[in-house]
Amino acid sequence: MVGSHFLQHSRYPVHAAGRTDPRSLGLPAEGFSVVRLERGSEVERFVETRPEAVIVNFAARTDVDSVERERTASPTPSQGGEAWSINALAPGTIARGAQRSGKYFVQLSTDFVFDGTAGPYAETDLRSPTSDHLSWYGWTKGEGERRVEEENPTAGILRISYPFRSAFPRKLDFARALVAKHRAGTLPPLYTDQRFTPTWIPDATRALQAMMEARGVGIFHAASPETTTPYEFARRLLQRVSGAEPVLDRGSLRKALARPETTPRPVLGGLRCHRLAQLGVHLTGWREGIDLLVAEERWK
Ligand SMILES: NC(=O)c1ccc[n+]([C@@H]2O[C@H](COP(=O)([O-])OP(=O)(O)OC[C@H]3O[C@@H](n4cnc5c(N)ncnc54)[C@H](OP(=O)(O)O)[C@@H]3O)[C@@H](O)[C@H]2O)c1
Repeated sequence: MVGSHFLQHSRYPVHAAGRTDPRSLGLPAEGFSVVRLERGSEVERFVETRPEAVIVNFAARTDVDSVERERTASPTPSQGGEAWSINALAPGTIARGAQRSGKYFVQLSTDFVFDGTAGPYAETDLRSPTSDHLSWYGWTKGEGERRVEEENPTAGILRISYPFRSAFPRKLDFARALVAKHRAGTLPPLYTDQRFTPTWIPDATRALQAMMEARGVGIFHAASPETTTPYEFARRLLQRVSGAEPVLDRGSLRKALARPETTPRPVLGGLRCHRLAQLGVHLTGWREGIDLLVAEERWK
């Protein structure tokens, strides 16, 4: 979802790598190589031998609820499951290959590396040191970040939060999913106590291009400068889509998290973004992002 936007808007030619050739989805790419991130030595060889000067890793196991089922008591490679291999180990392998072959590397990451007790979080805030209050997804992504930092001191990490965009039917982001569920009459109660900072995906593309050009080192955040709640976000989005005030049920993430079957998610989450301004990147507020989404998506 995020990588496809980069492919469509990159200022530079891109050789894609992964499981699915983006050209089969109508997306532009100069070429494509099959690379499965769970095959560490193949990944490393691929990274080291490619001629490109920059590599960006968009790939991850991103389904937070399904990744939660892979949680284990001991996060070792043999016990950690697919998300451990793809989200935690593979970024370190890519970072090592990039370091050995002198390439600049950027890893995509998330505000789910924080426990959500004190967000929005700045680039300088420390990610949660234990998995206790994180989703397994968040823990594996944080372990991926840690390995990138260990293996490659010149790499960049770009964290985003609840990314949304227009025109990508293959996967609905949370915003387009809200509209689809509202229309189907299946919208659940919307949290009024969760705070987050949704990322307008074109901002992530612009941030990556700026980081690549500046060879930005370390952690960068790209997200809405103002926080919102799922309730507030849905209300404005559905007003803009239908022109009428939507009738929405209110819910509480804190109450939901008290139930043992609920996957942990940051309550006070989101990202404070300081560093991208220094690279000249304007970040889109969530209200402006909704207006852009509605203008581009043209829901009927
Ligand atoms: N979505 C969010 O809410 C969110 C929030 C914050 C941060 N992020 C981060 O942003 C990045 C992009 O997220 P996204 O939502 O665009 O993800 P996405 O739509 O789920 O895409 C993930 C991509 O990873 C590929 N992939 C998965 N397993 C692979 C493997 N074993 N080998 C090779 N490729 C594999 C998938 O390939 P196939 O197409 O073949 O399945 C897919 O193209 C991720 O790093 C994610 O952690 C996402």
